[in-house]
Amino acid sequence: MTTEFDLGALLAKRGAERYELHGRHLNHQLPRMLHTIGFDKVYERAEGACFWDADGNEYLDMLAGFGVMGLGRHHPVVRKALHDVLDAQLADLTRFDCQPLPGLLAEKLLAHSPHLDRVFFGNSGTEAVETALKFARRATGRARILYCDHSFHGLTTGSLSVNGEDGFRDGFGPLLPDTAVPLGDLDALARELKKGDVAALIVEPIQGKGVHEAPPGYLRAAQDLLHRHKALLIADEVQTGLGRTGDFYAYQHEDGVEPDLVCVAKALSGGYMPVGATLGKDWIFKKVYSSMDRVLVHSASFGSNAQAMAAGLAVLAVLENEQIVANARVTGELLKSRLTALVDKYELLADVRGRGLMIGIEFGRPSSLKLRSRWTMLQAARKGLFAQMVVVPLLQRHRILTQVSGDHLEVIKLIPPLIVGEREVERFVEAFTEVMDDAHSGGGLMWDFGKTLVKQAVANR
Ligand SMILES: Cc1ncc(COP(=O)(O)O)c(C=O)c1O
Repeated sequence: MTTEFDLGALLAKRGAERYELHGRHLNHQLPRMLHTIGFDKVYERAEGACFWDADGNEYLDMLAGFGVMGLGRHHPVVRKALHDVLDAQLADLTRFDCQPLPGLLAEKLLAHSPHLDRVFFGNSGTEAVETALKFARRATGRARILYCDHSFHGLTTGSLSVNGEDGFRDGFGPLLPDTAVPLGDLDALARELKKGDVAALIVEPIQGKGVHEAPPGYLRAAQDLLHRHKALLIADEVQTGLGRTGDFYAYQHEDGVEPDLVCVAKALSGGYMPVGATLGKDWIFKKVYSSMDRVLVHSASFGSNAQAMAAGLAVLAVLENEQIVANARVTGELLKSRLTALVDKYELLADVRGRGLMIGIEFGRPSSLKLRSRWTMLQAARKGLFAQMVVVPLLQRHRILTQVSGDHLEVIKLIPPLIVGEREVERFVEAFTEVMDDAHSGGGLMWDFGKTLVKQAVANR
């Protein structure tokens, strides 16, 4: 008997139940939060840097699915690669042969970091980080990992042990006995290294939370210190990698930085397939896979699957052929300079920072009395409410999706698909200017919404 399964019919019949289903069977707080801030839209279709709701309204995506949609949605080259790989009906995942696609993707990836030799393919950013942590421990024979305050490296237990925010860690302990150092503080790093038990420092060259960049010279100096103490440098490029910051990897902004291990994920499969990759030096991999008995000592059932590999190869081909990395640099500079020009105009706007298409907009305490009392009211209830007050009208009134860059932060992070250009920059800047004008007028819907947020924050205590 053949099974009839009609995906289109299922979606047509039950698609409208999406929020209810989620509330009943998945994380119930997500629909609750979305209803609260009016983000409970029904998006029906997506392409490039846009998606559309049921009424045909177009939304601009400045979030790229937390960075996975580096090429925008449904890039035709990646789609074709996926159709092709399915149609090829490969004998994939036999687990006792060597398929060509993982080798080809590893070869292509390694070409962008010639000092590295080998790749492990997993299925997510956190898995790429877990791999790096394990490999560093095995290679050095030491246990302790150093990480930076405010870092984010994923949410599985090893990655959580190097997470710089208590909000993520609380209630999930005991975690591994890893140690935080301030980003940019070489003395703190040196003090920890002297103890002789450090396997590695893991660092995001630009932190996703708050969009803070390692100070110039830090990565190179940290690398030298680490190597002097026979410890490793791990660059977490899960968010910053594959062109996001205007170079292929963000660590490449600084001369002479050659991390021992590099974590990649998110944009590698064009947003279609879960994928992660940990790139490393030959000697490290040889310590991990030190004998034939240890061939499966670190592996993943779905790792290197053909769909993820095909998508990855297609993504790298597009990055190279369509000058995506250069576009991220040029468009990022334009966006940053247009926003920086607003800092003097708006007292609530404190800073614009970042690189390429990873930009942080920070709000701060205003100088005028009228705005200051409102700001203080928000801050007293919960830090981060003003940024939320900006994100909401950007979506509701201007149909632009952005995010607050972390809990309790007055920072909005822009990480649009790397294919955006002048048109999207102008659309964003115009909308942002209107929202800022509104905020500085001190009245209106925006501050009413602020009061609602304050009430909710107080009720949630
Ligand atoms: C720098 C960094 N590392 C690791 C991760 C974890 O990736 P994933 O969500 O795929 O596990 C993220 C996710 O946002 C990230 O930004």
